[in-house]
Order: sequence, then structure tokens, then C-alpha cells
Amino acid sequence: MHLKINDPILDVVIKAAMAGGDVCKKFFAQDLKFENKDVSNLVTEADIQAEQAIVEVIRREFPTHDILAEESHTASTSSKHLWVVDPLDGTNNFAHQIPHFAVSIGYWRDGIPQAGVILNPIRDELYYAKSGAGAFGQGAYLSGERLVTNSETALDQSLVGCGFYYDRGEMMRATLRAVESCFERNIHGIRRFGTASLDLIHVASGKYGAFFEYRLAPWDFAAGRLFIEEAGGKITTCRGEVLGLNQSTILASNGHLHEELLELVQKFHP
Ligand code: IPD
Ligand code: CA
Ligand code: CA
Repeated sequence: MHLKINDPILDVVIKAAMAGGDVCKKFFAQDLKFENKDVSNLVTEADIQAEQAIVEVIRREFPTHDILAEESHTASTSSKHLWVVDPLDGTNNFAHQIPHFAVSIGYWRDGIPQAGVILNPIRDELYYAKSGAGAFGQGAYLSGERLVTNSETALDQSLVGCGFYYDRGEMMRATLRAVESCFERNIHGIRRFGTASLDLIHVASGKYGAFFEYRLAPWDFAAGRLFIEEAGGKITTCRGEVLGLNQSTILASNGHLHEELLELVQKFHP
């Protein structure tokens, strides 16, 4: 995969994501040991080494910037120049040899997303997004093709994605109730693919009408938020608030379905 986009920040996000993606690919489908951070929250050597490779690229290019990354880098979310990294989103898939996972990196300045990359290393799909007009312009793209959310206004014509947080209690039950309520509205189907960043890409590229999850970490959506906005959709918390860089509930949609789904997910909000 070779891509040259004349944008200094985006160039680095892409380089870093590809470094992480190479590590994930190298380890994929090997008999990897994994540790449990929690009952279903796993971590493998690939998560750790991919994060190291990504951080190395960012540090080399922007030594004064801050990095918040899932495995071992912390930073204040209000930092002026902040890189938010999920080195391997979809570790559960990865650990069970399911080829559906991603590297997700968002660059935020003064609390506002500026650039993002979500890379599916197995399919060699590199999604990139940039906010604001510059040499590169703005928008969300895959291989030069702009991503656009779909224009569906009816839930009964839509696929909806969801995610389950790691608990086996309140949040899991709330999610199941919300899913049941979606089915009662005759949605085309529910999807739970296990990689939040790629779920957000499914909304940005018009495949899902919407996606929700009752708890995600900043690295799960730091890039994805920009993709939804640049593709013409809407993304908020499950209470309709602005989605900042805190652990949060999340609702992303094509915009048209937002109000109806917001009412639904809010009703079951744990
Ligand atoms: C997880 C995935 C999953 C979502 C979880 C996330 P990880 O990320 O994105 O789809 O449901 O809430 O934590 O742990 O594989 O990086
Ligand atoms: Ca993740
Ligand atoms: Ca991860």
C-alpha cells in the first residue's frame, strides 16, 4: 500500500498507522498468548508492540506532542497537541483469529479532532479524514473516494451496529434491551462486529444507519468521531451531549435517524 497525501499531519498519522498495522499483520493468526485485563478484555503481544511502533513514529516527527494510547501512554485529554491511539482495536477478534480489527489514531488540537486514520490491515483498507480546509482539503476518504453517510430516514430500512462493554451486568442488559427495542422497530438487522472504529466507518460509509455502545474509551472513537462528522453524520453521547475525549456512551448515525435512536438508547441508558 503506498499513499502520498501532501499534508504534514496526515502523512504522519498514516505512517504511524501503517507501522502499527504491520505489527498486527505479523502476529495475526499465530498462536499468541493473551492476558485478560478483565473477563473479556484481552491484551496480546501484538497490542503492545503495535503501540510501541506507532508511538515511535509520532515521537520522531512531533517530539513535543502528547500521546494517549490504550496500553501504556497517558496524557491529559485537554492537551494542546494530542495523539489518541488504539494500536489494535478488536483484540478479541484478533485473539480468536477473526480477521476484523483495526489500528485507530486521532490527532486532536485544543480539544478538537483534526485528523484521523483507521486502518484495516488485513484488507489493506486505509481510511483517512481531515478537518478544515488546507492543502489536502477536508472530508473522510478511502483510497481517494469520499465517504458519505447514507440518507435513510426510516429505521425499518436500516442496519444498526452496536457494541457490548466488558461488564456482564447492567450495561450488558441495557444493551440487550436496546437491541430488542431496535428489532421491535423492524430494523433490517443488528450487527456486533467487535471493532468500534470499523463500526464507525460503517456509519461513515453508509453501510449502517447508526451505531451505539454504552461505554467506549477515548481511543475507540478519537479518530471515528471525525469520520462521522466529515462524512455528514452525527455523533453524540447516548444523552445527546457533545462527545468529548472521556470514557463515554456513544451514538453515531447518518443524522436523519439520530433523534429517534437517541430516544431509544436513552430510555435504556444504564
Ligand atoms: C473494543 C472493541 C469492541 C468494543 C469494546 C472495545 P479493544 O476495543 O472496539 O468492539 O465493543 O467496547 O473496548 O479492547 O479491542 O481495543
Ligand atoms: Ca478499542
Ligand atoms: Ca485496543
